[in-house]
Amino acid sequence: SWTPDSFVDTTVDQLKKKLGDDKVILGLSGGVDSSVAAMLLHKAIGKNLHCIFVNNGLLRKNEFSEVLKQYEGMGLNVKGVDASKRFLDALAGKSDPEEKRKTIGRVFIEVFDDEAHQVENAKWLAQGTIYPDVIESVSATGGPSATIKSHHNVGGLPNFMKLQVVEPLRMLFKDEVRRVGASMDMNPTLLGRHPFPGPGLAIRILGDITAEKVRILQEVDAIFINGLRDWGLYDQVWQAGAMLLPVDSVGVMGDERTYEKCVALRAVESTDGMTADWVNLPYNFLQKVSNDIINKVKGVNRVVYDISSKPPATIEWE
Ligand code: XMP
Repeated sequence: SWTPDSFVDTTVDQLKKKLGDDKVILGLSGGVDSSVAAMLLHKAIGKNLHCIFVNNGLLRKNEFSEVLKQYEGMGLNVKGVDASKRFLDALAGKSDPEEKRKTIGRVFIEVFDDEAHQVENAKWLAQGTIYPDVIESVSATGGPSATIKSHHNVGGLPNFMKLQVVEPLRMLFKDEVRRVGASMDMNPTLLGRHPFPGPGLAIRILGDITAEKVRILQEVDAIFINGLRDWGLYDQVWQAGAMLLPVDSVGVMGDERTYEKCVALRAVESTDGMTADWVNLPYNFLQKVSNDIINKVKGVNRVVYDISSKPPATIEWE
């Protein structure tokens, strides 16, 4: 029968045989899948695994530096590349969701390609693809869902440098990936992280993106997510985040009328993201978080909570 321990043993053996002394490149995202894939490869080939962690400027507050430090602490051979400006420049003035996704996908490939070329004689590209990604990309090649959202997790990287692809998690579901990570003694906080979309905060800022909007949303998101952790609610939620709406609404401050941004908070329960229910978060929690956001984040004067389920509403607003 399948156990995480035996999966680690057999996979590491297979990777050793398959990869020998070859160099492998892997893009870390900060998420569970790429991190567990990296750890398996690290066990098999050590320093021949070259990890690249790109800051697209659309990560959570402080995420790039904190997660990079964590990766280094795990002994991974990792290079952090801060390409925030390149992404934000390319996104300037773009407000169509699919155009934003495509722009981010394109810039990511350019940045990754530049970095990958610095690794001489690399033979393989490793990816943290898991089974649901495989299923979704298969159904997305034919059916009408192909045009709904262009996820760039699977098959998004071109065949540059003629790299062969290695995907050690291809047969696993998310909960199995977490168990595999735990059996390699990986940090539980890292393994318990909510899923986060590749395009990051770009698809949670409705409309066009500016550095100032990213800053506002990072502050709001940090208050919400840290609040979930502090109240012991984080692990009861499958995914959570905040959306910056393209709406200014009237408020009062002292005897002044304000005209500022509105944010929507979203927290869902799900098993695979295909369907999802909104989470019945306690009112006193929502009250506290809403007060903190409005008091601490300049430019926001209204907070709403999203009580729609998927379908028909998707998890992200774009
Ligand atoms: P939706 O919004 O389609 O989201 O209900 C389902 C899951 O997919 C994530 N998501 C994305 N992940 N690139 C990604 O890597 C994307 O473009 C993208 N769009 C949505 C979303 O966060 C949720 O977990």
